[in-house]
Amino acid sequence: MNKQDMLLRTPLLVRFCHVFIVILFILTALSGLSLFFPSIKAFGLVLGTPQLVRELHPFLGGIVFILLMFMLIRLAHHNIPNRDDVRWLKHINRIIAGKEPEDIPIGKYNAGQKILFWCIMSLITVLMITGIIMWRRYFAQYFPIDILRLAIFFHSLAAIGLILLIIGHAYMAFWVKGSVKGMISGYVSRAWARKNHSKWYHDEMNKIYLEEQKTKQAQSNVQQNSQ
Ligand code: HEM
Repeated sequence: MNKQDMLLRTPLLVRFCHVFIVILFILTALSGLSLFFPSIKAFGLVLGTPQLVRELHPFLGGIVFILLMFMLIRLAHHNIPNRDDVRWLKHINRIIAGKEPEDIPIGKYNAGQKILFWCIMSLITVLMITGIIMWRRYFAQYFPIDILRLAIFFHSLAAIGLILLIIGHAYMAFWVKGSVKGMISGYVSRAWARKNHSKWYHDEMNKIYLEEQKTKQAQSNVQQNSQ
């Protein structure tokens, strides 16, 4: 399909960031699981040796946190809840059945994606804070044992929550045909945008229309000046 008939959904920098997050998240999650379940040898081999896992896991987690904070800055404004999200959530049964009501305007992300977005950001923040408290090499000695125990408890809980959410996120990404392609190439078809994100589609088309009007106006000004 001609790129002119497509809409830019995810800019290059965000795409790069997402690719690194996917790779590093898998490594962080598997290495973290190996610390909780040392008997499962396969998890421990993900970074070479169990010693390396212990050393590298906190750094990998830290990088995932920083990359997600970049996504937060870039995407937060598209994920602000509004009244249409409440209507979307009320029709969730129909949406899951593939009979989405057409009169609910959906912005760049739907209510489900927005909830997931804020859950990801909250859980990674909990993981970062508790992870620092638990980081034996640098910080753990500064905290009393009770705080350390609480940190370990909430770190495990947040990790399980985030892993389950990401499995759901990846499943949904493959379920909605065209969205993974959009994350890889950056572009989605206009038909995809109209079907899945009607308000975003109209906003983008408006922008394109205004740009075209501006260009036409500039061209006619040049013509008039040269006469
Ligand atoms: C194989 C794994 C993954 C797949 C297939 C996947 C796929 C996608 C796709 C297709 C989108 C764009 C959705 C759209 O344009 O409507 C997206 C967005 C996003 N993904 Fe992933 N992703 C994966 C893993 C992850 C991981 C591990 C994280 C974070 C820990 C993550 C965080 C995000 C965030 C924050 C967004 C933006 C959503 C929003 O702003 O509401 N993804 N992902």
